[in-house]
Amino acid sequence: MKFFIDTADVQEIKELSSTGLLDGVTTNPSLIKKSGRKIEEVIEEICNIVNGPVSAEVAATTFEKMIEEAHFLKNIANNVTIKLPLTWDGLKSCKKLSDEGISVNVTLCFSPSQALLAAKCGASYISPFVGRLDDIATDGMALISEIKTIYSNYNHLQTEILVASVRHPRHVIESAKTGADIVTLPPNVIRQLASHPLTDKGLEAFLKDWKDTGQSIG
Ligand code: E4P
Repeated sequence: MKFFIDTADVQEIKELSSTGLLDGVTTNPSLIKKSGRKIEEVIEEICNIVNGPVSAEVAATTFEKMIEEAHFLKNIANNVTIKLPLTWDGLKSCKKLSDEGISVNVTLCFSPSQALLAAKCGASYISPFVGRLDDIATDGMALISEIKTIYSNYNHLQTEILVASVRHPRHVIESAKTGADIVTLPPNVIRQLASHPLTDKGLEAFLKDWKDTGQSIG
């Protein structure tokens, strides 16, 4: 399973990419706002740090304007993936851009029927938002299983399942068990994946005992 990071914070991306764990980046208009920077500057900088796909989202809502914005964003760097909302105009734009050979991530997916349409329109990635479904007392992970079942029934559908709106490590483990292709993780969740209180406790005890031996290595 690939790990993307869900942020437009360049410092975080630099630090986490040094672990070798990052396969790509996703951003959205809210994350760009949080960065306080111009979208073209921040996306260019991220693309220079990470070799994998970097999702940059259009802000337009009509087909013609989406295509115009998509071409502008795609010109920033080769590894830009265009993120489009799952609307009718978004789907039309997905089909056109995919036919042009441009990689598209269809975002704001909340149902299996939406995921099926995105795949039929040639999306490279579908982004189902599991956390936001959980927030309204609906099982977000059940959506991932349904999409996985549907896509697995049709070999010609090449769309990768990119689990988004991830809130905690359990979402990551359940995604891996379901066979999702990618999870996009907020920086705090990727760090949580590595931590366990028994690891901290165990290390503390080992270090104390080691000190008592009076030895040093090397
Ligand atoms: C995905 O690409 C989105 O940027 C993101 O995962 C949304 O997550 P949120 O529900 O935490 O805003």
